[in-house]
Amino acid sequence: MSHNEHEIQKPPLRLGVLISGSGTNLQALIDAIENQQLPGVEIALVVSNNPDAHGLQRALKHKIPAIYLPWRKEIVGYREPGQHTSRARFIVASADLSAPGGCSAIEMPESEARLTALLQLFQADLIVLAGWMRIFSAAFLEHFPQRIINIHPALLPDAGIGSTYTTSNGTQIPVFRGLHAVKQALDAGVKVTGSCVHYVTPEVDAGPGICREEVAIEEGDTEETLHERLKLVEHRLIVEAVRKLR
Ligand code: GRF
Repeated sequence: MSHNEHEIQKPPLRLGVLISGSGTNLQALIDAIENQQLPGVEIALVVSNNPDAHGLQRALKHKIPAIYLPWRKEIVGYREPGQHTSRARFIVASADLSAPGGCSAIEMPESEARLTALLQLFQADLIVLAGWMRIFSAAFLEHFPQRIINIHPALLPDAGIGSTYTTSNGTQIPVFRGLHAVKQALDAGVKVTGSCVHYVTPEVDAGPGICREEVAIEEGDTEETLHERLKLVEHRLIVEAVRKLR
């Protein structure tokens, strides 16, 4: 079989894209797919924890299933005897052929259980966090090993861990994780920052890298101007990362 025939026969890679906001990275994926730059890739669904996320409208415009999933860590209304606060958790059973009996069960909060069910229903192979502003439990992540990737607007080391990053000119800069990574870079006075796509692990913004690009900080940059330039880079990076994982 030739390389091309093999490519044609490979089933499509179905993306589950999770967003919380404007969805420009989602748009970059939609455009790349429509312009044949990501052959064999399709978007199975888009999920947002925010009903007003503009990304939901972007998805609908391109006839992609778009779902608003209200996000709560716990459910209310269930109490164990003698308990005053609700501490309900959901059990999600999953087919796991490697487990004895072919089935395993993991525990996760209700919203994650609902999200898992949606991703399975729409047969998403790869989950792309494209501006998703919620942190997942280890139980949810274990359910999708090596199948969740995130775009982060700062530079992370190859292995994801560690507190310093060495830029291409050999300068060591701090690693900026979590919220406001763009502002953190500006406040630290570094000359170079960047964006990267990495695997998601239980430690926030500390998973192994897939691809990244440096961006110079310019005189007079504000959080907004710098983030806009970073996003232009991200729109290329997210497409490159998905292509690598196809
Ligand atoms: C991006 O800058 C990404 O790095 C961060 O959230 C932002 C999402 O932007 N995680 P958009 O919603 O794709 O426009």
